[in-house]
Amino acid sequence: MSKEKTMMAVQIQGDGGSEGLYLGAYPRPEPGPYEVLVAVAATAVNRADILQRQGKYPPPPGASPILGLEMAGRVVATGSMARRWTIGDRVCGLLDGGGYAAYAVIHEDLALPIPEGMSLPEAAALPEVYMTAYQALFWLADLQAGERVLIHAGASGVGTAAIQLARLKGAEVWVTASAGKHEACQALGASRTIDYRSQDFAEVVKEATDGKGVPVILDFLAAPYFQQNLASLALDGRLVMLALMGGIKTEVNLAPILLKRLRVMGSTLRNRELPYKIALAEALREFAWPALSRGQIRPVIDRMMPIAQVTEAHRLLETNATTGKVVLTM
Ligand SMILES: NC(=O)c1ccc[n+]([C@@H]2O[C@H](COP(=O)([O-])OP(=O)(O)OC[C@H]3O[C@@H](n4cnc5c(N)ncnc54)[C@H](OP(=O)(O)O)[C@@H]3O)[C@@H](O)[C@H]2O)c1
Repeated sequence: MSKEKTMMAVQIQGDGGSEGLYLGAYPRPEPGPYEVLVAVAATAVNRADILQRQGKYPPPPGASPILGLEMAGRVVATGSMARRWTIGDRVCGLLDGGGYAAYAVIHEDLALPIPEGMSLPEAAALPEVYMTAYQALFWLADLQAGERVLIHAGASGVGTAAIQLARLKGAEVWVTASAGKHEACQALGASRTIDYRSQDFAEVVKEATDGKGVPVILDFLAAPYFQQNLASLALDGRLVMLALMGGIKTEVNLAPILLKRLRVMGSTLRNRELPYKIALAEALREFAWPALSRGQIRPVIDRMMPIAQVTEAHRLLETNATTGKVVLTM
């Protein structure tokens, strides 16, 4: 491989343990006609990266096998038909893979401008969790101003983005999180924080709503929360399941779904078609970029680490000790 056609990228050896991540030379991607090539300044760690590293979440066909679902950086080349960006522009965006590398390609319409006053490493924490949270809250759950939403794992990357977007909409936010993370959730705008380790959240919701329940729940735990989620939803309530962190199998009394006319939805972002992702990025930009540029909302970053510490970054996320995102700088 000639030197200018290669780049540094995180690669995987061994049996899927975090110690198998290493930096090595890898072919540099070329932008397709409607793509731009970005010199990556930073990427961020997602749980999906951990599953992919372990061989449990293969990249979709055609995607880069390199880890990394988001990035921020500068445009260094444009495809033959790409007109939207010019060399030197600062962009961030959602990727199907390839973020843990010095260069990444992205469709010109999927790339987002960096909000005013925001650094590239900070912006690398935006795409995945804000697009996920926006989609779940507004496109799937149809959360309205004045409604109440219960967000599980409120201090997670997606949770911290969801709290901010829901508040920006004018909704009231309740969260579950481990007790040490309650202050952070309150600072973002959560008006009620439930310690799921010492409290039964369904009991708390029941008591606090006189048995009426909440209209919307965002869930990441799946099996262990399913029955309690059904119990906690109000008439015409909407449950959006975004992850299966607690397990995939459970026995459940389905009656509340009928009796309360509930809607139970699940979603992933990665396997959505490109036009859907572009429309989602555009909707998020319109809704949230002004507030991000004003500093009214801000990505929550637990810490930034150099890409050389990618093993430590994965281990950190796996401890569940983080609040918000772990960013990897190039
Ligand atoms: N479907 C989609 O489109 C989509 C997109 C992005 C992410 N996701 C998924 O969403 C989940 C959250 O992602 P993230 O990056 O935001 O996660 P994250 O920042 O790593 O946070 C996860 C948090 O969840 C809590 N948690 C973990 N295990 C738990 C358990 N058994 N019971 C209760 N809480 C638990 C922990 O906080 P506490 O200290 O509060 O327990 C942990 O810090 C991941 O599974 C990810 O794969 C889905």
